[in-house]
Order: sequence, then C-alpha cells, then structure tokens
Amino acid sequence: MKLSVVVLISGSGSNLQAIIDAAANSGSYEVSGVISNREGAFGLERAQRANIATALIEHQQFPDRETFDKELGRQIDAWGADLVVLAGFMRILTDQFVNRYAGRLINIHPSLLPKFKGLDTHARAIAAGEAEHGCTVHFVSAELDAGAPIIQAATPIHSDDKVETLQQRVHQLEHCIYPIAVEWFCSGRLQERDGLAYLDAEPLGASGQRYEG
Ligand code: GRF
Repeated sequence: MKLSVVVLISGSGSNLQAIIDAAANSGSYEVSGVISNREGAFGLERAQRANIATALIEHQQFPDRETFDKELGRQIDAWGADLVVLAGFMRILTDQFVNRYAGRLINIHPSLLPKFKGLDTHARAIAAGEAEHGCTVHFVSAELDAGAPIIQAATPIHSDDKVETLQQRVHQLEHCIYPIAVEWFCSGRLQERDGLAYLDAEPLGASGQRYEG
C-alpha cells in the first residue's frame, strides 16, 4: 500500500510539482492532499490539475499560532498523512505541531546547512565569498532549520553570479533532491531517531547524503 504524503505550501509550489511528477512513477507514495496558508498560491492550481485534494487554511483567520496549527493538524490527519512535506511553507510552526509530527515532518532549505539558516540565503552566501551554495532537505525539529539533514546538493558560486542566477540553479537542485528524500522515507529506507537521520540503517552525517547529480 502506498504511503500518504501531505504537502504544505505558501507559493509557487515548484517543489510540490517535482514531488507530484515523481509520485506518478513511484510505487511507494501518493500525494493525498495539499494545504496552502495563502489564497491564490499557484501550488493549489498545480494540485488541482493533478486531481489532488486541496485545503486553504489562512493563518489570518486564527487568533494565534496554536489554533492555526491545530487546524493544520486536523486536515493533515483527515488525509491520513504518513509524511508531512513543507515545500515553501512560510509559517513558523509551534513546538506542539513539530513534536506531534516528529520523525515524519521534512523541509527543504536553500542553503548547505548548517550554513545560512534563516532568510536571504543566496545573498548571504555570495556576500560571504562562499565557493559553493546549495540546498538541504532535513527533518524538522523545534529549532529553526536545525533538524537532521537528509540530502544536500551544491553548485559552485561564479564570480558573476547574482542572487537571481544563483537562486535559479539552487531551485533546480531542490527539484532533484526533494523527491529523492520523499522516496527514501516512503520506501522505508529513511528514519529519524534521537535527532539523527538514518539511511538504510546507517547514520547520515552532519550534512546528510551529498547529491552528485
Ligand atoms: C524554495 O526556494 C525553498 O527552498 C524554500 O521556499 C522555496 C519554495 O519554492 N523553502 P517553490 O514554491 O517550491 O517553488
């Protein structure tokens, strides 16, 4: 039986698209629902085109983070999620939510974690004179962008790179590694235990598996 994957988005949903496309060729999972906290997010349209159930849960409609997160959880559970995938979901989640889905909640971050947690990662990587930049899929823990890394992909930073050119290349890499991580999890190869990620029962290092293309 295929595992149920629920994806949370706020915007374009190009990572969601990569996961939808990969699901079509996967025997181990299907995307059973997509939640957006923003009306008009293009990712909702992508899901509808693929006949995937959608829900709009707007954070402004809730008095606080706790009640918003409870409603997210209610919908996620209604779809029977085995794995919850954050794909450009621009809300900070409460510790209660993160703990509730611990070990089955993953995110993609546009940097080579543990470098450049937080926002504006591309500009910060260029400004710091880094030789390379990239993206990381990681398990989500209560501390922002600090959960166990699963897989990471890098691209060199060229001397004439602007934020846009670098961001574009990193985005392409995101679309390669996110479906890989989802497949690993749903085929039973990937677990999280005590803050560490394991692939085929072997602990992954501080940066996760390196994607070689
Ligand atoms: C990606 O850059 C991802 O790293 C960040 O949000 C962006 C989402 O892009 N967390 P998209 O909506 O999947 O196109």
